[in-house]
Amino acid sequence: MNFNERNVLVTGGGRGIGLGIVRGFLESGASVVFVDYDEQLGREAERRLRQEHARVHFVAADVGRFDSCQAAYERATALIGSIDTLVNNAGISPKTNGRGVSVDDMDIDEWRRVVDVNLNGIFYFAKLAVPAMKRQRFGRIVSMSSVAGKAYLDVCAVHYAATKAAVIGLTRQLAGELGPFGINVNAIAPGRIDTEMVAVAGAATNAAYVAQTPLQRLGTTREVASLCLYLASKEEAGFVTGQVVDVAGGWLMT
Ligand SMILES: NC(=O)c1ccc[n+]([C@@H]2O[C@H](COP(=O)([O-])OP(=O)(O)OC[C@H]3O[C@@H](n4cnc5c(N)ncnc54)[C@H](O)[C@@H]3O)[C@@H](O)[C@H]2O)c1
Repeated sequence: MNFNERNVLVTGGGRGIGLGIVRGFLESGASVVFVDYDEQLGREAERRLRQEHARVHFVAADVGRFDSCQAAYERATALIGSIDTLVNNAGISPKTNGRGVSVDDMDIDEWRRVVDVNLNGIFYFAKLAVPAMKRQRFGRIVSMSSVAGKAYLDVCAVHYAATKAAVIGLTRQLAGELGPFGINVNAIAPGRIDTEMVAVAGAATNAAYVAQTPLQRLGTTREVASLCLYLASKEEAGFVTGQVVDVAGGWLMT
């Protein structure tokens, strides 16, 4: 797939799935700005990516705060021009460490922070990016849900499951609203992908997941990135919108 002339903004691109997506777009010819709230991580990723790709920029921002998203969006357009592709990847799953956290042990601030990052951040960036996409009568938005937003997972917690389910509702509503403007909106529901987020769950939790997965392994960031690029393509996925596509090794079949 060819992404020459495409301007992509990826949130949470400093490591893991987001970094895999940034790489995928760069290898396919796009200009990319990636956002991360970990400035050191972002700068280091930018330095490494720049060794092979000129058109990549890091912008530090916290997707959980609208003012921070607004500043990052403005900086991104100043750096690469009008954004036609938004990938809402940033997400957090705090404290679970491979075990569920009971609702009575969940503190209010942690609940709010997960809602801010995993859900509100997607709304903020969509709100910022859609006006230019409408003017161009073209756009692609891909957001990261999870199999935990579609099915009960005992190693999950209420904040994570609720926000990942909400991403699906947000995706469908946006797809309906924005379809007439040539803007396709889809979500990805990864199963367990081999990243730092999953490493904290521990070997036993990951082995249990693998045992329940027909393909009998964790997924790779490259496999999620391939799907993301497909959903962001102009022609190949031109008639695909409002969908939630699993990349989960068959863990969930619906
Ligand atoms: N890894 C998995 O198995 C898996 C499964 C299902 C869904 N997901 C989802 O995929 C996405 C990426 O997951 P990952 O495994 O790569 O996670 P990760 O923790 O390895 O990487 C997430 C990145 O997002 C950044 N980030 C976190 N909060 C941010 C904020 N407020 N503002 C800006 N950047 C922020 C982090 O600094 C980090 O670089 C998340 O939305 C996650 O919920 C992951």
